Amino acid sequence: MSRTLIVSNRLPTKGQRTAEGFTFQPSEGSLATGLGSVYQADGNVWVGWPGLSVEEPAEQAQVTEQLRQDSMAPVFLTEDEIRDFYEGFSNSTLWPTFHYFSQYATYEQAHWEAYVAVNEKFCRAVLELAGPEDTVWVHDYQLLLLPEMLRQQRPEATIGFFLHIPFPSYELVRVLPWGAQLLRGMLGADLIGFHTFGYMHHFLSAVSQLLGLPSHNGQVETRTRTVLADAFPMGIDYGRYAEAAASEAARQHARTYRQALGHTRIVLSIDRLDYSKGIAQRLRAFELLLQRYPEWRGRVSLLMLVVPSRDQVAQYAALKEEIDELVGRINAQYSNIAWNPIHYFYRSFPPGELAALYRLADVALVTPVRDGMNLVAKEFIASKTDQRGVLILSERAGAAQELADALLINPTDTGQLVEALHEALHMPVEEQQTRMAALQALVQQYDVFAWTRLFLDRLTYSKIKQQTLATD
Ligand code: F6P
Repeated sequence: MSRTLIVSNRLPTKGQRTAEGFTFQPSEGSLATGLGSVYQADGNVWVGWPGLSVEEPAEQAQVTEQLRQDSMAPVFLTEDEIRDFYEGFSNSTLWPTFHYFSQYATYEQAHWEAYVAVNEKFCRAVLELAGPEDTVWVHDYQLLLLPEMLRQQRPEATIGFFLHIPFPSYELVRVLPWGAQLLRGMLGADLIGFHTFGYMHHFLSAVSQLLGLPSHNGQVETRTRTVLADAFPMGIDYGRYAEAAASEAARQHARTYRQALGHTRIVLSIDRLDYSKGIAQRLRAFELLLQRYPEWRGRVSLLMLVVPSRDQVAQYAALKEEIDELVGRINAQYSNIAWNPIHYFYRSFPPGELAALYRLADVALVTPVRDGMNLVAKEFIASKTDQRGVLILSERAGAAQELADALLINPTDTGQLVEALHEALHMPVEEQQTRMAALQALVQQYDVFAWTRLFLDRLTYSKIKQQTLATD
């Protein structure tokens, strides 16, 4: 029977070393939360890094065995690889470049070499596990070279690639000293998926300008093969979020939070710590709301969850300080004994408590300056079982291409953001419900299962088409 091997840098679980051995908890980030519901079907396996450094062979064997029981196969990274491949090339070169933060990007030859070496390491791990009939589905910017490496070893293999972050304009890609190699790496796949048509067009334009390969209807002809690019907006496990929000546990948590918060309206913000998420801009907009509309003082609170991430990378540490300072300043200026403008948490929350927060929120403020998709927006929608609540969404999140019934804003236009908040807090219940019903219909229909099916069916179809052309 053929299986699908999902390959991503991070596994959907991350390990911790304790006195009793290794313990595991769910990873953060859209890839893990999104695909976590689908990978265990049909003997599939997820190949990736378990999130900590394990160098002792005996310990590696122990972790491998623990993960095998949950259909996962670890790729171990050394401390140096974590520094140069993960924090270095992946998160200090590719991440800022692909999110239009070129000013933060570094261009280190040693980081590039580590990136190549780790992609090769993943290649060896996949070749050990994958049979000739298996489909290999590679995910995200940490593994852009992997499809071509696999192709060289297994010319007939079925290989899909999906990019979970934006693909930027050619002007950004050409700045990278290794742009052409990265594109060639991606072209090793049979099918390359993006969240939006915009990202797909940027990719095709970069392939044409940097590699001189034209495309027609999303098909790129390399010297030896046809590669297809297409848009597949990722969804969530809608049922799981809707059920969690309706559960007795979520109701109980919500009651406790409500008692603590009193009657204030709640604006919710949830992100990994990242400069692409627009967290500081959001805080400034909330401050301006309290200045411009004093009627909201004492009547609305921002609940802001920031999940720790990549804190060894300089810009992330600096952003954390900026956020701490902004929250401190705004709270010091506006709080009173009975009310706090901002409730700020720097940690991850268990799913049951998250469900309660989504339930309670009057407004979700999802305002990244750049975001591949943003699944928090979709999780909020799925959790609104009474269809009350307003989503304010950045037009620069991939999700904005689908979620036209949200209040769409430009995240750098603070004035517009303030007016959107004011409008959302005043929105009549009927309008909230009309908008939310439309949003729910869409997010429910195109859930993560539909997304997986669409991608994998398309991959099978494009493979069959190639084989037919080859034998004609
Ligand atoms: O969705 C983008 C993404 O970078 C994933 O590839 C990643 O797993 C997630 O966000 C979280 O980032 P990290 O793995 O660096 O913690």
